[in-house]
Amino acid sequence: MESEVAMGFQVLELRMEGSLAIITLNRPKALNAINVTMVGELEQAVNQVRDDPRVRVVVITGAGDKAFAAGADITEFKAMSSIDAWMFVQRLQRLFLQIERLPKPVIAAVNGYALGGGCELMMACDIVYASDAAKIGQPEINLGIIPGGGGTQRLARLIGKQRAKELVLTGEMISAQEAWGLGLLNKVVPADQLMVEVRKLADKLAIKGPLAVMAAKEAIEDGYDMALERALAYEGKLFALCFATEDRTEGVNAFLEKRPANFKGK
Ligand code: CAA
Repeated sequence: MESEVAMGFQVLELRMEGSLAIITLNRPKALNAINVTMVGELEQAVNQVRDDPRVRVVVITGAGDKAFAAGADITEFKAMSSIDAWMFVQRLQRLFLQIERLPKPVIAAVNGYALGGGCELMMACDIVYASDAAKIGQPEINLGIIPGGGGTQRLARLIGKQRAKELVLTGEMISAQEAWGLGLLNKVVPADQLMVEVRKLADKLAIKGPLAVMAAKEAIEDGYDMALERALAYEGKLFALCFATEDRTEGVNAFLEKRPANFKGK
């Protein structure tokens, strides 16, 4: 498969492989800590993969074999004023929301530490596969601060308030296996199999109808915080919208003709 690396990034790599876009956080010496430059480049990469019609699936991972991301870059915190900190986390929150709301599936390939902002980034992804050597946590409390990239919110929504409080208040790391047990991860795989398994998943997702994928993701994301009755009404409207697509005609015909569907995103 041909692959092409996008130009213009310093602390991340954006690689296109057919319909797959792989974003690799690339500061391995600092355990891929998310500095302001990386936030800017992630914003750029996310816009690029959203607007590129070739991209059907996005993977986010970390360079090296130690870390996905060990959090926000703590060295930048030393001289940060309270207002700077507020601006920084608002930008980080917007970025993670953009990832969560990307109209394409985003897989986190957690290849090592996912701490603080790294854990928050992971939680903004749709599906999370982790290496069995990964360690997950929200250690901000040990710095005298709290999570600011959604850690107190997404974590509680994903695993429940009490378990989220235990992780956030102790700041302790847990293993990938424990995180899986809490419902924070979809799958734990041997470290050397992580990208193999992620690519298998990406291949499965890439052949689905992209409009249906977008609608399904939107129904779950938007419906999640609605009352059930309104959420069901919302789902119904998105269901009806799918019937306006050529992909619906193709999908139904393919089933009836006992052949694989060839979805075009139309
Ligand atoms: N920011 C900046 N640099 C970091 C970093 C971070 N979050 N995490 C690790 N590094 C750097 C280390 O300072 C070290 O740099 P030097 O080689 O220049 O000394 C290098 O990465 C390697 O790290 P260690 O030597 O510490 O590696 P280790 O294997 O001994 O420990 C670790 C690994 C337990 C992950 C440890 O690095 C660690 O605790 N990191 C900090 C984790 C953390 O507190 N994250 C939360 C950040 S705050 C945040 O994310 C706020 C938010 O919600 C947005």
